[in-house]
Amino acid sequence: MSKRILILNGPNLNLLGTREPDIYGTDTLADIHALCRKAAAEFNLEVDFRQSNHEGVLIDWVQEARTGYAALIINPAAYTHTSIALHDALKTISIPVIEVHISDPAQREKFRQTSYVGMIAAETVSGRGAAGYAEAVAIAAKLI
Ligand code: DQA
Repeated sequence: MSKRILILNGPNLNLLGTREPDIYGTDTLADIHALCRKAAAEFNLEVDFRQSNHEGVLIDWVQEARTGYAALIINPAAYTHTSIALHDALKTISIPVIEVHISDPAQREKFRQTSYVGMIAAETVSGRGAAGYAEAVAIAAKLI
């Protein structure tokens, strides 16, 4: 039976494709979902891919990852830099957590310099565009 990985996306990532394309590119979230499915299939992994604009929903989903998933990939978007609640939720799960960002927050505004998720993540992929998600899937496969 193939293992399942959970891929979570935070606020405003539903707008990818039209949202600040100079920073985030023109791939839509549906394109990224397809990319992840393809990357996961190479490792015989199944993907459960979700997006929410709501912090509490993301936290509920992180808690869901406590059972039935082999790894969690998360692009927490702006909650990366603000959410101690997400940080705490991620601390409760024992599967590998991989943080992914399309842009490289370290090269951007000062308010993006702290990642409460990066403090928990086994690995972070930043600044690789949409392709970073495929890299995160490969890292998840390695860590499982
Ligand atoms: C992002 C980077 C965050 O700083 C920003 O708030 C996002 C997207 C990225 O994928 O590059 O919404 O997580």
